[in-house]
Amino acid sequence: TVEVKQLYRETNKYLNQNIRVSGWVRTIRSSKSFGFIELNDGTFLKNLQVVFDEKLDNFKEIEKLPISSSITVEGKLIETPTAKQPFEVHADKIIIEGYSHSDYPLQKKRHTFEYLRTIAHLRPRSNTFSAVFRVRSVAAYAIHKFFQERGFVYVHTPIITGSDCEGAGQMFRVTTLDLNNLPRKEDGTVDFSQDFFGRETNLTVSGQLEAEVYALAFKKVYTFGPTFRAENSNTPRHASEFWMIEPEIAFADLNDYMDLAEEMIKYIITYVMENCPEEMEFFNNFIDNTLLDRLNNVVNSKFERITYTEAIELLKKSGENFQFPVEWGCDLQTEHERYITEKIFKKPVFVTNYPKDIKAFYMRLNDDGKTVAAADLLVPGVGEIIGGSQREERYDVLLNRIRELGMKEEDYWWYLELRKYGGTKHSGFGLGFERMIMYLTGMSNIRDVIPFPRTPRNAEF
Ligand code: 4AD
Ligand code: MG
Repeated sequence: TVEVKQLYRETNKYLNQNIRVSGWVRTIRSSKSFGFIELNDGTFLKNLQVVFDEKLDNFKEIEKLPISSSITVEGKLIETPTAKQPFEVHADKIIIEGYSHSDYPLQKKRHTFEYLRTIAHLRPRSNTFSAVFRVRSVAAYAIHKFFQERGFVYVHTPIITGSDCEGAGQMFRVTTLDLNNLPRKEDGTVDFSQDFFGRETNLTVSGQLEAEVYALAFKKVYTFGPTFRAENSNTPRHASEFWMIEPEIAFADLNDYMDLAEEMIKYIITYVMENCPEEMEFFNNFIDNTLLDRLNNVVNSKFERITYTEAIELLKKSGENFQFPVEWGCDLQTEHERYITEKIFKKPVFVTNYPKDIKAFYMRLNDDGKTVAAADLLVPGVGEIIGGSQREERYDVLLNRIRELGMKEEDYWWYLELRKYGGTKHSGFGLGFERMIMYLTGMSNIRDVIPFPRTPRNAEF
């Protein structure tokens, strides 16, 4: 048995040979004595054309096969120099593996992505989703390859955790408590310390704090795993469950982080373009016809680096009527991020040194006392794709910040100790994997780049 991808990649090896291929019927048409099947076997975006005729003893059955039936074909591979496809197989035998029903929803017509979301169990069989999820797999591999080649250690940080890394209170609680019989404190309020063997626990929003632990032992580490945010934002860029890549490097400052992130983004793009040429061409043809040009430019240009203060100045000067007005101190909204990358610079932009009040507690305080050594990477079409910073390595400054924000000091004792026992400057960042896939494919909704999206209104599958 041979796979369709092999036929396309090593055509000469298989031409005029007898082959055997298994797959699903994408289209079928026939006349009185012969017919054509476009067969997709899942290994490749492109189909294999199967020619069959009445010599087959089950010709009548084959002719009536509903779309998406599964079959095995045996026959000779023939070159077709004048046709659209490079070759076809002339079937000597077709075995019906499994019938499909005639009400199969993915008939040969364009469906909206909204509709396809309602059939998340069938959508990977469509061209678009076949391409998206193959790119997703290859991009994940590229990321591991990038870090492993550079000597980073892959650390598995916990999914159930007691600490709120981002301090934004957007955590899903994990509990072993009987919700119908909650333990109460003396004042009558629920005693959540009984959640998980004496500890309040949640699903992690980020593996960063634990990654820092390992960076201060291994120097260069990364995580790559699922993270969870209980924010009720119904946007095309937010999901409740998403995957994040979080490198953390000891002895590195903010510029070192930005250099690494830039190198990584270029590496992922290059690797995916080289290893998924058909998929990328498909996206360029059907999703966004500027995609390949844009990505090629990204690989060949230097990312912009501006400070938050400069970004605010540029936005104010733009004369644009933003829905959210721009003032020093405000958080950048999607409309601002997109204006900066799409209208002003037309390429990826790092925005650095944000006001400390709109950033997380662990970011290193700058000498001005007002800003922190943070950097977000913004890209055209998506907005924020990476968030990161240099970490506060000074014990006293960090402790002050934790107290200032009213966080529970005792929850962070181990994090503080990292600053006590050979602490050093260190930096890291988080790349949102789904946003990276959106950027790579031109897909505009996060629900369409994750196999089974978890968003406030999508959890059926
Ligand atoms: O900016 P964020 O919140 O940063 C952190 O979590 C840091 N602890 C990372 C670090 O320094 N190690 O999230 C990082 C990235 C964002 O830039 C975005 O790409 C993605 O994660 N992200 C989301 N993606 C999808 N849905 C959501 N709700 C997301 N929230 C963040
Ligand atoms: Mg962020």
